[in-house]
Amino acid sequence: MSGTRILNAAMRSKIMSAEQAAALIQSGMNVGMSGFTGAGYPKVVPAALAKHIMDSNLNGKKFKIGVWTGASTAPELDGALAMVDGVEMRLPYQSDPTCRKRINAGEMEYIDIHLSHVSQFVWGGFLGKLDVAVVEVAGITEDGKLIPSSSVGNNKTWLDQADKIILEVNSWQSLDLEGMHDIYYGTALPPHRKPIPIIRTEDRIGQPYFNVDPSKIIAIVETNKPDRNSAFTPPDANSKLIAGHILDFLQHEVKMGRLPTNLLPLQSGVGNVANAVMAGLKDGPFENLTAYTEVLQDGMLELLKCGKMTCASATSFSLSPEALADLTANLKDFKNKIILRPQEISNHPEVIRRLGVIAMNGLIEADIYGNVNSTHIMGTSIMNGIGGSGDFARNAFISMFMTPSSAKGGTISCIVPMVSHVDHTEHDVQVIVTEQGLADLRGLSPKARAKVVIEKCAHPNFKPALQEYYERSLRYSPGRHTPHLLDEAFTFMPNWMANKAAREAWRDDSLVQADAWKK
Ligand code: COA
Repeated sequence: MSGTRILNAAMRSKIMSAEQAAALIQSGMNVGMSGFTGAGYPKVVPAALAKHIMDSNLNGKKFKIGVWTGASTAPELDGALAMVDGVEMRLPYQSDPTCRKRINAGEMEYIDIHLSHVSQFVWGGFLGKLDVAVVEVAGITEDGKLIPSSSVGNNKTWLDQADKIILEVNSWQSLDLEGMHDIYYGTALPPHRKPIPIIRTEDRIGQPYFNVDPSKIIAIVETNKPDRNSAFTPPDANSKLIAGHILDFLQHEVKMGRLPTNLLPLQSGVGNVANAVMAGLKDGPFENLTAYTEVLQDGMLELLKCGKMTCASATSFSLSPEALADLTANLKDFKNKIILRPQEISNHPEVIRRLGVIAMNGLIEADIYGNVNSTHIMGTSIMNGIGGSGDFARNAFISMFMTPSSAKGGTISCIVPMVSHVDHTEHDVQVIVTEQGLADLRGLSPKARAKVVIEKCAHPNFKPALQEYYERSLRYSPGRHTPHLLDEAFTFMPNWMANKAAREAWRDDSLVQADAWKK
């Protein structure tokens, strides 16, 4: 395979092994890696680096780096580096169990920032110097341009800003991806910014390739390894109920004349509920749908395939192996319906606001007034991170959050008096949906919101306690704008707080997952 995807002769001379490339990264460096939701991450250099770090640590020389990515990656990157305790600081979004454990044990610093902010933080120099970029590409053209792979993420920024570049050219990625990407080079720092000229989801405003300064490339490594591509889990009963409430709500909005019949561009996170919503849309009455989102998952691909959706714009794929096989077999047909953009554009507040995106994201807990916690368990332990949910929630035309009404086998209510950590304030949360029902909070004062959230969203096992809390809050702080009993707000979950076994099971879970990976 040597050099077949590297059509530029000068660049072919930089081919080396993953071990040789990894040895060029030194302790203390900040490394910008490609990768977004398990797609397009470097597959072999991080693992070789992890081995190098382990050897160094065994020789008594502590070796740690800063790891910046697009979003979550995979065991070969986050998992491998976290396993050897090789990460000093991680940003912006992760979902790896070993990373999570190290972050919550105080062994890894973690900066959780909005995904649309990362590139401007780097361009503005707020995060320090970016020493090395390690970026996966699908190929290199004769004139030295880079063909992006299955995610774009922050790669443009890494390639522009890093002092040195290591490329992984992955021949597992289909060359038919060429032409699908839209890399925009028109961003700037204030006061030189111009409008981002996307008026419709399908607008292309950039070029299909990354530019790169060849003098910065210090290594090119050839690989042939698959993306993470997690298995598809069919929607469970709760997800189907949540999806049903959302679809009824959307139909109602169309009937009221507040949404067009083809809706507005959809954004949804990944997972069971998102898949159930997409499945519902497939059988539903809406035609000519579009998506302006972060990640393109199985359900959206289905919608594109059956013709219900005409165009999807994202920054990454997140597909099951079956959906990926389908995409690869039909890439030529999908190419003019899918656009992959840098995450600063897929998540750009200006564009999201202009297009009027309908945002649907998951939550960990919501409070009776509409504040949402998407990131922390019991206010202190990080789960994953805010990801793009804040970019979309703050700027969407309709901002929805969805969750089962209880977690951990029904021992804990996801509707609480006061969230233990706030990611999305009551001002950015318009609709909350659980399997119990949908609370439309638009135009409601805090007290009216509390009644609707408890009534529509709480699990019957927790509803009386929430109602009682709210009524006593009203009595003890009469006339207050947002009534609360501050000494009780966080002691609401007696089952959970008292259930030592459930708590320990949750804490142990990340360790179990990490052990499973090690095997
Ligand atoms: N207390 C304790 N644990 C809770 C909980 C609560 N209130 N609510 C959920 N959990 C646990 C679940 O039990 C589950 O644990 P498990 O994996 O051990 O079973 C885990 O959190 C995930 O919850 P789940 O109900 O399966 O939902 P999910 O997979 O949709 O994840 C978020 C929910 C909030 C963690 C996820 O959506 C997320 O990371 N969001 C932030 C980023 C984002 O929104 N990205 C998309 C934007 S573009």
